[in-house]
Amino acid sequence: MLLIKGGLIVTAERRFDADILCDDAGRIARIGADLEAPTGCTVIDASGLLVMPGGIDPHTHMEMPFMGTTASDDFFTGTAAGLAGGTTSIIDFVIPDQGQSLFDAWRAWRGKAEKAASDYGFHVAVTHWDEQVHDDMGRLVREGGVNSFKHFMAYKNALMIDDTVFLRSMQRARELGALCTVHAENGDAIAFLQAQLLAKGETGPSSHPLSRPAAIEGEAAQRAITLAELDDTPLYDDTPLYIVHVSTEEATQAIAAARLKGLKVYGEVLPQHLVFDDSVYHDSDWLQAARHVMSPPFRPKAHQKALWGGLISGQLQTTATDHCCFCQDQKMRGRDDFTKIPNGVPGIEERMSVLWHHGVVSGRLSAEEFVAITSTNTARIFNLYPRKGCIAPGADADLVLWDPSASRTITAGALHQNVDYTLYEGMTLTGLAVKTISQGVVVWDEGTLRAERGKGRYIRRPALGRGRPLWQKV
Ligand code: URP
Ligand code: ZN
Ligand code: ZN
Ligand code: ZN
Repeated sequence: MLLIKGGLIVTAERRFDADILCDDAGRIARIGADLEAPTGCTVIDASGLLVMPGGIDPHTHMEMPFMGTTASDDFFTGTAAGLAGGTTSIIDFVIPDQGQSLFDAWRAWRGKAEKAASDYGFHVAVTHWDEQVHDDMGRLVREGGVNSFKHFMAYKNALMIDDTVFLRSMQRARELGALCTVHAENGDAIAFLQAQLLAKGETGPSSHPLSRPAAIEGEAAQRAITLAELDDTPLYDDTPLYIVHVSTEEATQAIAAARLKGLKVYGEVLPQHLVFDDSVYHDSDWLQAARHVMSPPFRPKAHQKALWGGLISGQLQTTATDHCCFCQDQKMRGRDDFTKIPNGVPGIEERMSVLWHHGVVSGRLSAEEFVAITSTNTARIFNLYPRKGCIAPGADADLVLWDPSASRTITAGALHQNVDYTLYEGMTLTGLAVKTISQGVVVWDEGTLRAERGKGRYIRRPALGRGRPLWQKV
């Protein structure tokens, strides 16, 4: 048992002084003033610290095979790094091989993730359509604890689907009470622009953002919303559309307009898009520029204002990292051709601090709003709430003890991610995870990481569909 004494509890709704008793099953047993420590219970002094729900990162790619290589953080190293940064759960993406059944791919991902140090769940990507996909989606929702499917409107000749497949999948997801997530960029337009740039000899990383202009993200986001609306069951029910890594003003506006019409469309923001602009692609050091190659790319500064506005107003609800690590030798695959630079950047360990510093310390967000966008909103949207994202008796004891005023300067050598750089090198951030508690156990303790291989559990997420109460178990 673990008793956390003297902290200021912050949830998405309120802040209050209370102690928290965690039981041996890894759940919160009691919350109250001056709780007595049962015999044999470990007591933590949290005075001066905030006690918040552990972060949930709903967008990671641990050991993902992608663009001819495999992301370097595996389920152990990546989730352990998350714990060091205050993130206690992830939702990763199952990506079926060409022609592989969705269910087999999900089983393979279950195997890879057995080494995870924190709890995890899966979205499953729909990358083609046939009867098997239709049936596997049903099996995954009913037997697999999957309530979200992923769709790529980009990565032509690889993961991209056309609108017909997307419509079929959305219809099926709605039938099942599952949620559709989407990478919204126009893959045909990107392929066209990439070919043009290469033909002109523009082979460097600075061509990456030119091949993926903001307008084609806006177009794809609007198209996804339009397609979702075509179904005769409007998105008023609990099977919404979730747009991942929104990076532009155009996509933010499309989401806000849809929401004003009463459609349940959600948007996710990555901290890196809030902090860096497209000047990163003009670094005279090729590798530095290549390290920022991810999709969607970093944008001109004006977009950051729109993304902050989306988070502040609640039109964009969640933050994730799209954690997808590639080391120097992997980025070098695109030395002579920017389209071959593996797309992806690290960030799971830095996310909470970056958002506290640039969100809360800057005065844009309250501490409660920080909890909402790093944990609670995600738990609600993906039907993990109130098990996760919540501080209440019965909830999982996944907590972060947060020093709101401690500062540190980020450097890759001091982080735990299995990758040779951080986007935030040299950035001084205020706000730090002092201790992270996962399943009632302190796994990050003032600089010491005690993450345990295989301790993470697969978290089943019930369907969201019409009439199904959110608390129903799978
Ligand atoms: O560049 C990125 N984001 N790599 C991972 C795959 C994706 O698009 O999310
Ligand atoms: Zn059907
Ligand atoms: Zn993506
Ligand atoms: Zn991604």
